[in-house]
Amino acid sequence: MTLSRRALGAGAGLLLAGTLGLTGCGSADEAAPTANGATASPGASRQFTPGAAGVGDDYFPTYGNGGYDVSRYSVKVRYDPERDRLTGTTTVQAAATGDLSAFNLDLAGLTVRSVTVDGAPAKHGRKGDELVVTPARGLIAGNGFVTEVAYEGVPEPLRNEALGVGGFLHTDDGAIALGQPESASTWFPVNDHPSDKAAYDFEITVPKGLTAVSNGVPAGKSTTGGWTTWKWTERSPMASYLSTLVIGKFRITEGEHKGRPVFHAVTTGLPKGAADRSIAGTVEVADYLESVFGPYPFGAYGGVVVADPRISYALETQSRPVYSASFFAAGENTGVVAHELAHQWFGNSVSLARWQDIWLNEGLATYAEWLWAEHDGGRSAQQAFDVRYAGSSGQLWRTPPGRPGATNLFSESVYQRGAMTVHALRVTVGDKAFFELLKTWAAQKRDANASTDEFVALAERVAGKQLDDLFEAWLYGTQRPDRPGRG
Ligand code: TRP
Ligand code: ZN
Repeated sequence: MTLSRRALGAGAGLLLAGTLGLTGCGSADEAAPTANGATASPGASRQFTPGAAGVGDDYFPTYGNGGYDVSRYSVKVRYDPERDRLTGTTTVQAAATGDLSAFNLDLAGLTVRSVTVDGAPAKHGRKGDELVVTPARGLIAGNGFVTEVAYEGVPEPLRNEALGVGGFLHTDDGAIALGQPESASTWFPVNDHPSDKAAYDFEITVPKGLTAVSNGVPAGKSTTGGWTTWKWTERSPMASYLSTLVIGKFRITEGEHKGRPVFHAVTTGLPKGAADRSIAGTVEVADYLESVFGPYPFGAYGGVVVADPRISYALETQSRPVYSASFFAAGENTGVVAHELAHQWFGNSVSLARWQDIWLNEGLATYAEWLWAEHDGGRSAQQAFDVRYAGSSGQLWRTPPGRPGATNLFSESVYQRGAMTVHALRVTVGDKAFFELLKTWAAQKRDANASTDEFVALAERVAGKQLDDLFEAWLYGTQRPDRPGRG
């Protein structure tokens, strides 16, 4: 699934196909070109070109790839923690968005053993963290194709000091694959940008006795010859950075809530306590958020708590956030649960089309923490706003959350000023329009990608007034905006 704008990345092939069409060329098979892009017969009108090596995100030009749109990944990996070795076969179902002579998948490290496209062996090569696939014959715009990649090796994390991006980490007794804005390419070949959301099936095989947790609905497990395969299915479109793999020894709690499976896993490295109690609060927090944002968007609930010194954050991995144990060191903490669950609506169901719009995720999720605290008997959202409005640093007011720059993607401004922007909007349009806006936004953009401009346009429509000045000052200004009031 994808944005229409990514068709732009498909290059000249698409233009030609669009203007000349297939008229007179006979069936697709007869018109098939050779893999180098030359057409097979004189007079054939299609021109096959390689897909771009990135989707064209200004902040991260190499993320994702052009020329196709993935609908489903089937990721089958076996990981042996003792040898730190991963063996995988990933099947990618996609549709070409242009006439392709070749296309890329993102894959960091690992050794590719074989690639097939529609069952036929395909040429493959590596260019850094790109896997370049050249199918035996060109792929025609609009047609579906299935790529199967067999690979293996010692998975490595990605290194980006500014963002602390993660990827695959080998832990004491297993592994954790996690990270934003990228991580998936460290354990499977992927179109690694949130603009191409897809469904996922995971089959993770680990030594018997270990747990392997991923996204979505638990789809069974089976053990043979000392290895256990854990299956997970995420049917709702998911951005690749929201995929996760957590292997180790865990305390598992399974249940059901509102007809959906609940699956929590807390590392046995922690004694039973605050982490377990906080995670158990997931369904109650989700029900509260549902009352504010509308229906919970996914088919499962859950949370995973890990204790690895390299992971000091939480991530809203789809339907099953991963939390650092550090959040629960001082006792129960449902604030972080509210934040990660709010992302299920804002970030996961309604996803970014480009990383610059990150405040839409983090501002709304941070605002959800304020709403939850007020609901839970803590301070009001207004008080939370006031404290920050009065006390925030010059750095926060100088960094525009709507244009933070790639290295400030997760800066305080994006989270706190992002949430202040949401509150300023609420105060300006009034509670009725504000809460209607949140529900309408979640419903209209469910399972889709959306932009700041679309959010602003919907806010103006629901409120029935111009809001340019408000958003200009709060999202793009470089000094503290005026205190918002009903005007
Ligand atoms: N998006 C995460 C949150 O707000 C935080 C985060 C930012 C993160 N960068 C990360 C988590 C990298 C893991 C890895 O909940
Ligand atoms: Zn967040």
